Amino acid sequence: MKRLFIKTYGCQMNVYDSARMTDLLAPLGYASADRAEDADIVVLNTCHIREKAAEKVYSELGRLKAIKHERQNAGGEMTIAVAGCVAQAEGQEIIERQPAVDIVIGPQSYHRLPEMIARIARDKGHALETDFPAVDKFDSLPDEAAPRGPTAFVTVQEGCDKFCTFCVVPYTRGPEYSRPVAQIEAEVRRLAALGTREITLLGQNVNAYRGRCSEGSTFSLAQLIERLASVPGIERLRYTTSHPRDMSDDLITAHGRIEKLMPYLHLPVQSGSDRVLEAMNRQHRADDYRRLVEKIRNARNDIALSSDFIVGFPGETEQDFEATLALVREVGYAQAFSFKYSARPGTPAAAHAKQIPDAVKSERLAALQEVLGAQQDAFNRSCEGQTMEVLFEKPGRRKDQAIGRSPYLQPVHVERSLTRIGEIHDVLIEAALPNSLKGRLAREGAGTH
Ligand code: SAH
Ligand code: SF4
Ligand code: F3S
Repeated sequence: MKRLFIKTYGCQMNVYDSARMTDLLAPLGYASADRAEDADIVVLNTCHIREKAAEKVYSELGRLKAIKHERQNAGGEMTIAVAGCVAQAEGQEIIERQPAVDIVIGPQSYHRLPEMIARIARDKGHALETDFPAVDKFDSLPDEAAPRGPTAFVTVQEGCDKFCTFCVVPYTRGPEYSRPVAQIEAEVRRLAALGTREITLLGQNVNAYRGRCSEGSTFSLAQLIERLASVPGIERLRYTTSHPRDMSDDLITAHGRIEKLMPYLHLPVQSGSDRVLEAMNRQHRADDYRRLVEKIRNARNDIALSSDFIVGFPGETEQDFEATLALVREVGYAQAFSFKYSARPGTPAAAHAKQIPDAVKSERLAALQEVLGAQQDAFNRSCEGQTMEVLFEKPGRRKDQAIGRSPYLQPVHVERSLTRIGEIHDVLIEAALPNSLKGRLAREGAGTH
């Protein structure tokens, strides 16, 4: 029995890709190991979005090199592969910086991993594959090798044509591509048959989805969601990440119409200043976003909103930053992610003359996070006393405890519920903790949906 260990960095699309790489290697006899020390092949599925994310990879590679050498001294072997967005962005450079790396494989090429493993076993060299091949990667992926659990990610759209001036994704993931409807539906049916109850549809710009459907026309994301809502066994649907520009009316109204579509939307705005939004090439103004939020809340008034923010974008003034705080206060987020701007090689903003000092970025990040944190607390506290449907996903830390998710994506801890994993139950929310909720089964012995 050979063993595989994949360490995943970055976004949910990488989580999905890692699961697919596991599926690809299963027919070759690779079972999953829990740590690199026990593996014959180690894959780092990497992220290039901010400098810190990319640098982490090299320190991990240093550690893996030591394990590999120890193994070789004992007469064994270990293969190290770097996959994902750092592989795409840096290619050959990775092997030059860390010669212990055997394989470098970009996110559009990982279906060729088995062939590359065979090649290096034969030729003992390095192997590099970072093309954006015309062949559809998704056509080459095998069926799932193992159940994914109660919740699963399914990539439906990849790549980005938006070219925000701070972002590497258009370069690492290539142009926008949507998978055909039938292929996605077949995958969702297989996952449902294996016990998955909730699917999160993924894409760098998931709401730009335009997939070929069997009738010869194309489906929007709203139409795809509607189709998947009819798959037996699928109880919940989510999607991420959406761009404000592609938030079409049919998708907005879907939130009011499709019951299985959960009331949570991650809709990154990045900044509340029109000047900064323009310099970022976001192609919308702060007021467009405000109007969008209003429309969405009209369609589904309990929707929980989330966003991404960047502070300290080149040229951001105190006034620009205040505009971001003002937008946040107006919108009111259930949850959000915020980052200090990180200059990425090759992106237009990295060459901007007015880079912001790190101390200023830190100050602004702290101020923004204080407001966002208070909003998250307020949202979680507003859930106390409510009864919500929770899909139980995994065991908790305490005996007989399980952790599930509310419709609003909050983790919910419930005692005496371990046997309910994979089921949806009504839970009475008793207390809001900083990043999660605590509840109890509303009716002991209540049936699943
Ligand atoms: N496609 C998605 C998300 C892409 S990356 C979208 O358009 O929203 C996730 C988040 O990382 C972005 O929303 C942005 O907030 C952040 N990010 C991207 N590039 C960054 C950079 N150079 N520095 C800091 N944060 C960045
Ligand atoms: Fe990056 Fe902008 Fe594309 Fe999102 S929309 S992936 S932030 S370029
Ligand atoms: Fe990172 Fe690539 Fe995702 S850069 S955020 S892993 S698309």
